[in-house]
Amino acid sequence: MSMNTFGHLFRVTTWGESHGPALGATVDGCPPNVPVDEAFLQQFLDKRRPGQNKNMTQRQEPDAVRILSGVFEGKTTGTSVQLMIENTDQRSKDYGDIANTFRPGHADITYHQKYGNRDYRGGGRSSARETAARVAAGGLARAALNHLAPDLKIKGYMTAMGAMQLDRSKLDLNAIDHNDFWLPDATAVQEWEDYLQKIRKDHNSVGATIEVIAQNVPAGIGAPVYAKLDTDLAAAMMSINAVKGVEIGEGMAASSLTGTDNADEIFMGENGPEYSSNHAGGILGGISTGQDLVVRFAVKPTSSILTPRQSIRKDGTAIEVVTKGRHDPCVGVRAVPVGEAMMACVVLDHILLDRGQTGGIRAPLG
Ligand SMILES: Cc1cc2nc3c(=O)[nH]c(=O)nc-3n(C[C@H](O)[C@H](O)[C@H](O)COP(=O)(O)O)c2cc1C
Repeated sequence: MSMNTFGHLFRVTTWGESHGPALGATVDGCPPNVPVDEAFLQQFLDKRRPGQNKNMTQRQEPDAVRILSGVFEGKTTGTSVQLMIENTDQRSKDYGDIANTFRPGHADITYHQKYGNRDYRGGGRSSARETAARVAAGGLARAALNHLAPDLKIKGYMTAMGAMQLDRSKLDLNAIDHNDFWLPDATAVQEWEDYLQKIRKDHNSVGATIEVIAQNVPAGIGAPVYAKLDTDLAAAMMSINAVKGVEIGEGMAASSLTGTDNADEIFMGENGPEYSSNHAGGILGGISTGQDLVVRFAVKPTSSILTPRQSIRKDGTAIEVVTKGRHDPCVGVRAVPVGEAMMACVVLDHILLDRGQTGGIRAPLG
């Protein structure tokens, strides 16, 4: 199976399965002399870690990341960085009864049709446990970004979960780190929690929308045709498990706007161009404008639910599937740090690419 790698210059290859001894990422192309250690990477893995509160799966994985190569005396050496996370809380017996059954909404059936041999324990390679490796790689990207673009900030948060919608008039980015939902509105947290707990008790699950923004991104990263910044961001977000839609800026809603509504008018400010709005999501013609990058993605409801669903066995006979095990009632909660990690990897990749494309030389303006 090829296709385990993403990125042009900052290249991330993930490896491992959910119930194997370990999984991780091999990162090639990280610049040398970037200060980084395991504790720095761990803070991002801790955001994604299961079992932290009642609004996520109760699986207990410490998700402790180890750096096996590419870092010497606290700095990257420019060689490939090997990151490893051991799997410690696998309960394969939870999955024994699905060895010959295809769980609805999971990759069991397609994986079987394509490869004919699948590790059914927790979905194997198609398990979202793989996203822990991306988060580790994203931590490394953030360490490099701290060096190359020190003002750059990446923030992910939930904007919708089933019937719950973020009230944008109350958007407060400072609230994100202080609640279980990464919700930028502290006043809505209780209502979201009650809603999700009711869904869980009803043996059901729910989808969500996550927005990831990058602030203080330099203008001029990206390229106009086959290495568009928006192409790579969309592909990165779409590659996350359970993602069914990706939008940049105004996204799908742009189709109902007029040209006058959608125009991000340009003015000359003291420190360069300024825009009246950001319907474009910080990207024009595949190249960053210097405004916030704004990406949104929708995750489907968790497929593993305790309510019986119809499916088939490997031999084609019908079966009613109840998916036991410990699952996220809404995968959106734990997808937030994954989206942030993908944003970090793509932005760093394009900052590195830009040096090759332009040598960092910019046309004067004003
Ligand atoms: C962070 C994260 C956690 C997830 N946890 C679960 C889970 O506990 N149970 C489940 O059924 N799906 C979970 N998923 C989604 C499945 O991995 C995904 O739906 C499945 O692999 C099929 O892939 P697809 O939905 O992309 O087609 C999770 C996804 C993410 C991003």
